[in-house]
Amino acid sequence: DDLVSALVCADIDGEALSGRQLGAFFSLLLVAGVETTRNAIAHGLFLLDRNPEQRELLRSDFDRYIGGAVDEIVRHSTPIIQFRRTVTEECALGGRTFLPGEKVALIYASANRDETVFTHPDRFDITRSPNPHLGYGGGGPHHCLGAHLARLEMTALFRELIDRRPVMRDLGDPGLVDSNFDNRVGSLPFTFGPTFT
Ligand code: HEM
Repeated sequence: DDLVSALVCADIDGEALSGRQLGAFFSLLLVAGVETTRNAIAHGLFLLDRNPEQRELLRSDFDRYIGGAVDEIVRHSTPIIQFRRTVTEECALGGRTFLPGEKVALIYASANRDETVFTHPDRFDITRSPNPHLGYGGGGPHHCLGAHLARLEMTALFRELIDRRPVMRDLGDPGLVDSNFDNRVGSLPFTFGPTFT
């Protein structure tokens, strides 16, 4: 009942996926699943380091706050900055008409700092509620396939890291890699504290 088996056994109107299509899908899962969570975790470490009161709140009751923390990390850092779409049907949105064939960019980073939706959008607040961010996309058939896995991975990792606060310290500014697609962290300097064994 795993995803790759479902793809291998898929039957789409009597047709299976070719080896090439399976390979391409597997590569998509790999890239979509690794870069995004890796960057979200690095941003999360930095945000918790620079907002010690939020980190202490999370430490005070991990199970209560981690869900909100993970969502707020994804909103604030927006690991995927934008996706592009091609309009297939004429439609009106925000006072504009979009015609078939036109290219549009869905700028999640902008939506996630929309001051008409989020109070103090630049503030990192793990208790933000509701938090209707678009970090995993705007819903519909292309909504992030790995959103649940991403939440699970980040929860597991922060559970381990948050209790070892003295281990990681002196986080410097992240070295961001120029990209208009993913908010990529190239480096995040830190030192191990004395309790590291
Ligand atoms: C914090 C982590 C992640 C973020 C921020 C993220 C973000 C996104 C975004 C913005 C989209 C586009 C949604 C749309 O076009 O409406 C997307 C699609 C996708 N994501 Fe993620 N993602 C994350 C983790 C993962 C993981 C762990 C996997 C799989 C292992 C994954 C697999 C995919 C796939 C396959 C798609 C394409 C879905 C489709 O077009 O049908 N993602 N993701």
